[in-house]
Amino acid sequence: MGFVNYNETCKTYDKTRGSVGIEFIIGTLVMSDVPISKQVILDAGCGTGKFIECLIDMVGEVHGLDINENMLSQIMKKCPENRNLHLKIGSMANMPYPERTFDAVLINQALQHIDTERNGRFYQIEGTFNEVHRVLKSNGNFVLNLSLPHQLPWGFWWMFFMPYAMEELHKRTPTTERIEFMLEEAGFELISMASMITPPSQGEYYFEPNNMFSQEFRDGDSAWSLLSDDELGEVLQRIQKLCETGEIHQFINSKEQIRKQIGQSVSFHAQKDTR
Ligand SMILES: C[S@@+](CC[C@H](N)C(=O)[O-])C[C@H]1O[C@@H](n2cnc3c(N)ncnc32)[C@H](O)[C@@H]1O
Repeated sequence: MGFVNYNETCKTYDKTRGSVGIEFIIGTLVMSDVPISKQVILDAGCGTGKFIECLIDMVGEVHGLDINENMLSQIMKKCPENRNLHLKIGSMANMPYPERTFDAVLINQALQHIDTERNGRFYQIEGTFNEVHRVLKSNGNFVLNLSLPHQLPWGFWWMFFMPYAMEELHKRTPTTERIEFMLEEAGFELISMASMITPPSQGEYYFEPNNMFSQEFRDGDSAWSLLSDDELGEVLQRIQKLCETGEIHQFINSKEQIRKQIGQSVSFHAQKDTR
């Protein structure tokens, strides 16, 4: 089960989130033998459609799948009556599509919501990779973007104050090596991967410590949802203290040195049936 209340979060999600990795996605789509304007794309765990908005006028058809109806309804408001758009409510671990439907499947920032490691395995993620493989056409492309465990403490400076949330996210996020292994097991070949060395997904909001005191900002980063009320109070108190002593910007800058080198997320490009 997910740990974020997306029925509430959907209302403000777009304000504090960018579409990091969109250049990587477009770069992958244009390398296909199928012209981008003819491609049928699935965005699984599409949320409010930040990536769909970018792609809808570029590709043949965009399908969006999400488990949360209210997230999907935000897309309808942004792209009303667009004939290229097809939305479905459902789980990416059990996709409601026939096999060999799509030229490409995207999963952005959604994998950490579907699984927790058990007995050394990520069963839901393995199932999802099998599903992506099933619904892709021959030579179809899979682009996966997620924040990896090593990026959490540097890519999101507030994580430093919430070791409990970081521990939980580690249980929900496979390492690079594990992702490579699971992709191969599902029948993919890993073609490339890249750290997203871009400005933070939260844009300028990232650098303003006062935003941490706003529920609207916190709703844009799921780590905050893992805190109990007491833990949240403690985290905010520690940030407040650094704000009062004037040390907060120095603190953010120290994390920033590393964030700029490793990014907040990694994008993987894998392909079906290359052998
Ligand atoms: C952090 S949001 C990312 C949304 C979008 N991909 C983006 O990058 O802006 C995670 C999304 O995954 C969806 N989600 C969680 N579990 C899912 C599942 N099993 N199947 C499909 N969508 C799921 C949530 O409802 C939410 O919309």
